[in-house]
Amino acid sequence: MTSKNLTETIKRVVSQEELSDESDVRRATAPFQAAFPYERDEEAQITRREFCNFLGLTSAALFVGAAGFAGKAALDARGSEALPVAHIDGAEALAPNSSLNFSYPTERESAILVRTADGAYHAYGQKCTHLSCPVYYSRQHQRLECPCHEGAFDVANGNVLYGPPPRALDAIQVEMRDGQLWAIGRNASAANEGS
Ligand code: FES
Repeated sequence: MTSKNLTETIKRVVSQEELSDESDVRRATAPFQAAFPYERDEEAQITRREFCNFLGLTSAALFVGAAGFAGKAALDARGSEALPVAHIDGAEALAPNSSLNFSYPTERESAILVRTADGAYHAYGQKCTHLSCPVYYSRQHQRLECPCHEGAFDVANGNVLYGPPPRALDAIQVEMRDGQLWAIGRNASAANEGS
């Protein structure tokens, strides 16, 4: 599926205001899932196979090396990154209970800014933490949803609400300065906070 088709499909899903719950979203996103195939049973099979392979590894050196990489990745994932400060165009005019897309920290990294019904701003990297589909804001459900495999995230903190995503969205820190909203950094999540 091309990115244009992906965008069109997301627009179609977002525009279906009659959707009311997860089963409706599941039905609406069924065609999407063909482009991003994912079977939970298969995932369980893969996990078992990987576990058996792991048991077959007897080299202590290899194990220590892998553990070192895993530890570094975990530390990196929890860290707050020092990133450029960038104004988010259009943020101040954004109506409550709506969203806009922007790029941060680079032009190639898509992010989503949500202004909730109470007027607060929340921003996240747009990549779903499952298989990297772009999440969108559901105005009806007031949450971030992933159209590929029925994942959903809490708009207030990025935590997973349901579905296969293994961790919260990466949060982008925002700050209002002299009436303008700026992106000032990013927190890569390791897991749902408080879970
Ligand atoms: S990519 Fe699978 S739930 Fe988002």
